Amino acid sequence: MSVLDKFRMDDRVVVVTGASSGLGVYFARAFAEVGADVVLAARRVEKLEQAAELVTAAGRAALSVATDVADPAAAARMVEAAMERFGRVDVLINNAGIGTAHPATRETPEQFREVIDVNLNGAYWAAQACGRVMRPGSSIVNISSVLGLTTAGLPQAAYAASKAGLIGLTRDLAQQWGSRKGIRVNAIAPGFFASEMTDQYRPGYLDSVAHRIVLGRMGDPEDLAASVLWLASDAGGYVTGQTIAVDGGFTIN
Ligand SMILES: NC(=O)c1ccc[n+]([C@@H]2O[C@H](COP(=O)([O-])OP(=O)(O)OC[C@H]3O[C@@H](n4cnc5c(N)ncnc54)[C@H](OP(=O)(O)O)[C@@H]3O)[C@@H](O)[C@H]2O)c1
Repeated sequence: MSVLDKFRMDDRVVVVTGASSGLGVYFARAFAEVGADVVLAARRVEKLEQAAELVTAAGRAALSVATDVADPAAAARMVEAAMERFGRVDVLINNAGIGTAHPATRETPEQFREVIDVNLNGAYWAAQACGRVMRPGSSIVNISSVLGLTTAGLPQAAYAASKAGLIGLTRDLAQQWGSRKGIRVNAIAPGFFASEMTDQYRPGYLDSVAHRIVLGRMGDPEDLAASVLWLASDAGGYVTGQTIAVDGGFTIN
């Protein structure tokens, strides 16, 4: 076996939440390219179907499942659908997320709770449902953010708290499930990558943080997909409980 074979995911089954737009679409396609069948989950079914076409174009099977990850029952149904179709779940990419920016003194309880419900609680419901069926050798990658590690000039208490919480969740599930269940759990903290989420930034915001990016450019989603693949596949087989910043050096500045 060559070292490159460790990145192959032939006939494994990967669940990607938030696969209807942005980074999740790249992740779904990347896993298909290395041989995995992909379960795509999010709320917008039509957009999921478009992403699913990229998986089938790469020669692998795709299953789209309408899912609101904030609902624990929906997360359980997502995994049931995956098991019914493929009989296994090897990898979960907890990527579904929303971003908001509200000054703390004006943020309503509903606004704060919604972000925590999707970004943190939703990741936990999906991890619980997958953890119940995953076999030894499986892995989970939680998509956190540099906002879980540092600040970036926007009022993002809910988002930052959810993403920092995800890092704690990663550590704890890794220690609960490592030797007992043989499941690795890691997190990625992405920097800035073009997506529907970054489209919402006010004009000039990205330019205002650009000086902190050591590599001098925004991220390419394909680089991020490669890092996710490393952690999810056997290539990352001795890595667990870690948060890896893929941020062009943003968090060292
Ligand atoms: N882009 C960046 O620079 C960046 C940086 C750091 C971290 N991230 C993280 O990367 C992840 C992907 O973000 P993105 O940039 O690709 O943004 P995006 O294009 O807005 O994608 C977000 C995805 O999450 C899904 N989603 C939102 N709420 C959901 C819910 N309740 N249930 C199920 N799915 C839900 C959306 O699908 P539906 O609307 O169809 O449900 C969509 O597929 C997020 O967790 C984000 O925080 C992104």
